Amino acid sequence: MLEPLESIARVREAVAAARGSGRRVGFVPTMGALHEGHTRLIERCRAEAGLVVVSIFVNPTQFGPNEDLTHYPRTLLEDLRRCDAAGADLVFVPTEATIYPRGRSATFVEVPGLSHMLEGASRPDHFRGVATVVLALFEIVRPDLAVFGQKDYQQQLLIRRMIEDLHVPVELVVVPTVREQDGLAMSSRNRYLDPAQRKAASVLFRALQHARDSVAGGERDANRVRQILDRTISLELSVKLDYVEVADANSLESLVVIELERRAVALVAAWVGSTRLIDNLILTE
Ligand code: PAJ
Repeated sequence: MLEPLESIARVREAVAAARGSGRRVGFVPTMGALHEGHTRLIERCRAEAGLVVVSIFVNPTQFGPNEDLTHYPRTLLEDLRRCDAAGADLVFVPTEATIYPRGRSATFVEVPGLSHMLEGASRPDHFRGVATVVLALFEIVRPDLAVFGQKDYQQQLLIRRMIEDLHVPVELVVVPTVREQDGLAMSSRNRYLDPAQRKAASVLFRALQHARDSVAGGERDANRVRQILDRTISLELSVKLDYVEVADANSLESLVVIELERRAVALVAAWVGSTRLIDNLILTE
């Protein structure tokens, strides 16, 4: 069984030893409650790196005041087993005081261009918290490559931009969304859903597929595609839309017309009971 490391010094020692023997260092940051989606990220990292570091840290600064920080599922023993099985070498499980020695609001990283629309509109300080913790973790691990999931589409774009803007010497690898059989994107939050909600939640992926099919069938009016998303999801009465958007896949700029030369992505967020779910699909491939 992998032994979780709590201290920055121990992580740095292990990373330095690996690098000293010429190994490439790969990193998968997570908040735990690991599922098959996380496994896929760790496996991808294993395929590309000589040392695979996973972090498990439920980052308080990315949760809003009324969000699920205190209820966020914590399943450390199972997580360690999953990391082991997926090929991780080292699991960093820092305490809050280790990551934030001067408290939660000392120094922040802001990526304004990608932080305030979509997820950021509903969750005002969320991406500031994400960028801050990811940069702190990058500074601790100093990985050659870091693996993120497409599931959190805006997050991976924001991390890419932060890496570029701050000249962080890390290669970003993005892994496609891992889904349940009915298409529901795997998420640590899916375990909040009761059986009826779980069934209803699959409407998000069906809506995204309808949207993609409509573009494949020639639809170029982004508003019409938003309508398809909206209408499909509204059929499921227990699912309450937060947003649907059709945007440029690199800038997240809202689109009027879909052009095949310009990658477009559909993004949705919705409440199923008190659980907030997000999903996305590239429309132009
Ligand atoms: P968490 O939600 O635990 O996700 C960790 C990583 O797993 C993210 O890169 C996320 O996109 C990816 N992931 C989650 N579900 C996935 C799925 N179904 N398919 C593919 N990848 C999936 O994202 C975070 O944690 C945090 O914001 C973090 C980056 C760790 C910063 O605190």
